[in-house]
Amino acid sequence: MAAITLKDIVKKYGDGFPAVNGVSLDIADGEFVILVGPSGCGKSTLLRMIVGLEDITDGDLEIGGVRVNEKAPKDRNLAMVFQNYALYPHLTVAENIAFPLRLHKGAFTEDEIQAKIAHAAETLELTDHLDRKPANLSGGQRQRVAMGRAIVREADAFLFDEPLSNLDAKLRGQMRTEIARMQRRLGTTTVYVTHDQTEAMTLGDRVAVLRKGELQQVASPRALYEQPVNLFVAGFIGSPPMNFMPGEVADGQITLPFGTFTMPDRIAQAVGDRSLVIVGLRPEHFEDAALVEESKKGTGETFDADVDVTEWLGSELYAYVPFQTHPDVAAKLEELDRDLDGEGMRTQFIVGLDSASRVRDGDTTTLWFNPEKMLIFDPEGGENLTRDLDEVARLDRENEEDRKASLARAHRNAAAAEGGQTDGGQLKAVS
Ligand SMILES: Nc1ncnc2c1ncn2[C@@H]1O[C@H](COP(=O)(O)OP(=O)(O)OP(=O)(O)O)[C@@H](O)[C@H]1O
Ligand SMILES: [Mg+2]
Repeated sequence: MAAITLKDIVKKYGDGFPAVNGVSLDIADGEFVILVGPSGCGKSTLLRMIVGLEDITDGDLEIGGVRVNEKAPKDRNLAMVFQNYALYPHLTVAENIAFPLRLHKGAFTEDEIQAKIAHAAETLELTDHLDRKPANLSGGQRQRVAMGRAIVREADAFLFDEPLSNLDAKLRGQMRTEIARMQRRLGTTTVYVTHDQTEAMTLGDRVAVLRKGELQQVASPRALYEQPVNLFVAGFIGSPPMNFMPGEVADGQITLPFGTFTMPDRIAQAVGDRSLVIVGLRPEHFEDAALVEESKKGTGETFDADVDVTEWLGSELYAYVPFQTHPDVAAKLEELDRDLDGEGMRTQFIVGLDSASRVRDGDTTTLWFNPEKMLIFDPEGGENLTRDLDEVARLDRENEEDRKASLARAHRNAAAAEGGQTDGGQLKAVS
């Protein structure tokens, strides 16, 4: 077990390109931290520097309070799980799991090795497959073998680089819960790289968002979603993504592409003396006006929208509404779209309506939204002007309490298991 501290970490590859540019991050002992960001933002580079597969150009890396910049990977006692599992095809599952133990010749007796294999196999429900070869296993089983290899080493931390990206959606979901459960049970510090924001939001205690080698924000999933620092984080976190549109301000009123509305005080304060801002509204901030209860209607505004396409998904209905953007914010939004690896569809907004809505393709319909929910971004720098620091602090506090509680629960369970009780039933119930 160990804390991992990154201080001003820089990585310049041979051609001088700064793949990671001054990243500082404190990862607590037992914490599960996700590194997320678009392709090429430096996630793998950062992970490979932590594990020692890549030299650190500048800055300090500490594991358990000790500077390890110059230590070889084998002396850092970290276990890395790759996307392609790196299993040995000619070895059985048992021997694949035992591999790191056998590397240290003489360090463990044969009995110890067998006991460790058995324990890891039980944790990962691989006991029935120990004599099989990797080629005969499903993707999820292979993944678990790779994790077994990490477990037996009793490493100080687990490092994962997109471990699930080769799996189909269903298995990915299963493995996601499995990894989360295992991390809680073992209480091992974990750094997990992904560009899948569902994984980022569901797995981590905290999520670190990277853009072009620079850290944008590190926070709990909820704080990222509700209190993003800037346009980039707001646009990256959430699916379907947040809608961005121009907001022209005059006389306490804000004009959005779909109408002019009175600004609530909080919004007016955030806008200040700007005459043009970028407004963010998440799809779920809209509703089909026909389905909004009378009592709630007065808390928001309604407007008519020409719906282009609808997608009915059972639990909700997405409707796409095209709009004209403002030339003064178009460049900023295009730049944002490029940064986000976007599909270039920022001139329509997406509303997520109740699935009972009868809105269909080509309809003109009345939509409802609550202007209090608007996020206001500076049109030049892109920072979120509506960010509420008290709320951020509250969310951080809550998140830290939750993390400590779940870690304590994990330790209690582990102690109970040592005492002869098994929590195997609990494990099986979820899988
Ligand atoms: N060996 C290398 N030599 C030179 N540049 C490299 C090397 N490896 C990576 N880079 C560059 O460093 C940047 C970060 O790469 P990295 O692999 O860390 O990105 P990533 O966030 O993991 O992306 P992905 O989601 O596509 O895996 C990229 O611009 C990439 O071109
Ligand atoms: Mg990568």
